[in-house]
Amino acid sequence: MYGTFRVAQLSDTHFLEAGNDPEGGHSYDTSEAFEAVLADLGRQPDIDLVVVTGDIADHGRPEQYEIAAAAFERLPAPVCVCPGNHDRDRTFRAAFVSPELHTPRITQHGPWAFVFADSNAGAMTPDDTGRLVDPPGEERLHRNGSLGEQETAWLQAVAAGHDADHVFVWVHHPPDANVPMANDAAYTGEWEQVAAVCPKIRGFGAGHTHIPSTYTFEGRPVFVSPAFKNNFDLEASTWLPPGYRTYDFRPDGTVTSEVHLVDDDRWPRRSFGRTLRSLFMGEISFNELAEIVARRAGDDPAASV
Ligand SMILES: [Fe+2]
Repeated sequence: MYGTFRVAQLSDTHFLEAGNDPEGGHSYDTSEAFEAVLADLGRQPDIDLVVVTGDIADHGRPEQYEIAAAAFERLPAPVCVCPGNHDRDRTFRAAFVSPELHTPRITQHGPWAFVFADSNAGAMTPDDTGRLVDPPGEERLHRNGSLGEQETAWLQAVAAGHDADHVFVWVHHPPDANVPMANDAAYTGEWEQVAAVCPKIRGFGAGHTHIPSTYTFEGRPVFVSPAFKNNFDLEASTWLPPGYRTYDFRPDGTVTSEVHLVDDDRWPRRSFGRTLRSLFMGEISFNELAEIVARRAGDDPAASV
């Protein structure tokens, strides 16, 4: 007889090199956020596994991964990590080598199979050996999700063909994101192709938006995790503290999840303005936001956007 399998999900940890100010001091100190989350997580009973859904490093640099790996080794259970658009394929692959840190494609836990999708795969190119690698440049940093043909076919094969009773997908970019900024019709179409042939998929655990929420895609729940750097409540138009999610995977194929936020004076739930809302609603780009912030430099731009 199988019992409930309990997972903690962290996402968008965005670790920086020691001493670096996140976004010039306008974002949370992600190492401080990690300490607060770790302390809260220590009070959760019976965590069997921790999953981290991408944007591990803020710019995919080796020292950022060293700090991330040292932090993840302190988590209370084995850790499985998948990449986000702020990660880089070479440094990401080299980062998690200790026995408790894994970058699997698929794992099994009783009647559940966990599939770890790479939502950056569609923007990567094959090297001489056929392995997907990042194209040159920094374009990956603000990219939407893209599975591409190879990853879509792989997901269809493993999620439909696995002999587990239930499948759950962990992925950085949420399918059919409920935040216009992050909603990409082509990417959602790729997931529709996967969902259509994979009836065992019971849900998705994602990150990327930095706006924790739960919604439904193709009849399955999508759980979006809080981030460690810049976390928001779109309905209330406020910043949110950093946080994480817990999940209960039951043998009957049901899954429930809860958001945990680590409220603290360091990250008050202050209001954000029209400019940030315009970014989330897809009305302006990251570059346009950066230009607006630069113009307002010196007037506490984080509070005014
Ligand atoms: Fe992120």
